[in-house]
Amino acid sequence: MFKINENYLKLPGSYLFSTIGKKVNAFSEANPDKDVIRLGIGDVTLPLAPAVIEAMHKAVDEMASRDTFMGYAPDLGYEFLRNAIVENDYAPRNCNVSADEIFVSDGAKSDSGNIVDIFGDGNTIAVTDPVYPVYVDTNAMSGRTGTFNKETGMWSDVIYMPCVKENDFIPEFPSKIPDIIYLCFPNNPTGTTLPKDKLQEWVDYANKNGSVIIYDAAYEAYISTPDVVHSIYECEGARTCAIEIRSFSKNAGFTGTRLGFTVVPKELKCGDVMLHSLWARRHGTKFNGAPYIIQRAGEAVYSAEGKKQTMEQVAYYMNNAKVIREGLIDAGYEVFGGVDAPYIWLKTPDNMTSWEFFDYLLEEKNIVGTPGSGFGPSGEGYFRLTAFGSYENTVKAIARIKG
Ligand SMILES: Cc1ncc(COP(=O)(O)O)c(C=O)c1O
Repeated sequence: MFKINENYLKLPGSYLFSTIGKKVNAFSEANPDKDVIRLGIGDVTLPLAPAVIEAMHKAVDEMASRDTFMGYAPDLGYEFLRNAIVENDYAPRNCNVSADEIFVSDGAKSDSGNIVDIFGDGNTIAVTDPVYPVYVDTNAMSGRTGTFNKETGMWSDVIYMPCVKENDFIPEFPSKIPDIIYLCFPNNPTGTTLPKDKLQEWVDYANKNGSVIIYDAAYEAYISTPDVVHSIYECEGARTCAIEIRSFSKNAGFTGTRLGFTVVPKELKCGDVMLHSLWARRHGTKFNGAPYIIQRAGEAVYSAEGKKQTMEQVAYYMNNAKVIREGLIDAGYEVFGGVDAPYIWLKTPDNMTSWEFFDYLLEEKNIVGTPGSGFGPSGEGYFRLTAFGSYENTVKAIARIKG
């Protein structure tokens, strides 16, 4: 009789978005006249930029001719894209990343989930709390998280690093040294960032203790504060301790198109084994490349027109973030994030739980957001609104909250 991976049975149900969906549907059915505004989603809403669409059309035409048809992509991704990444994302920031350290993929979710493959069973992971759930769940699937406690919402073998207003959402070094440290800045869900000196401390800590940092920089395009680094490789010593994961989803609207990449520096080693070799092996064995058409689309993000157009999209969302942030402050809320990220994290008023505030906002203001407790125990008492809606709806929602 075949056996299943029993680790899957330990996973708690992923109820957050389905519960939200059910509550919103029930409300809309009972109140068909109400115009419900959704500021809960983490998905972009603007269409792909014209320069990206043009590159895709051109690549589609290439696929239609025997002379220009492209089959399997090279394992690491096409050189034209990896070179564009180095020239635009890394070289200008003095990050010493070479094109053969970049692995093009179909997105940051896959990479942050798949990276667990190259690490052994006995590793202890540390995550910030609240957290993007993929890091913990994928480690749970590979049996590294112990048992889940329904009461506390925590795994027995995971080190949680609370990020709350009391510590300015900056994770503190845990009492037990983790082997694998997940950091994501700008952060989903809190929308907060880490000043460069703080990230440098984490890099030093990882190098000193032989830990590896998995750095998720999916939201780097939203950074405007000068003191905040766009890449962990802006910190000294990061090449010996950090893997960086990036996405084209939030900077260029590729959530449905799918493109991302992971950087594994060749200096990052366990003994004399390069993690680069392991990831290359994993990538070559289990992944057959992001589509040529999409890699050409990704290249176009770095063209002069592409940069201008995608920066305008980011500016559009960040203007929404400003409207939400300032509107909530005017309305008397305690608000975090929303300056270097498209997420606004607010403290629920009057000691309401995250779900009580969800119900209040839905029923009284007809606005949908995301309860902070859905991202981890330290998210309780907080609530996430996103800037990915339309400007018109964002303004309308804030007027309702203030009214
Ligand atoms: C922190 C973080 N990492 C990764 C992703 C997923 O990115 P991608 O669309 O490239 O899979 C998201 C999506 O919301 C995210 O919030």
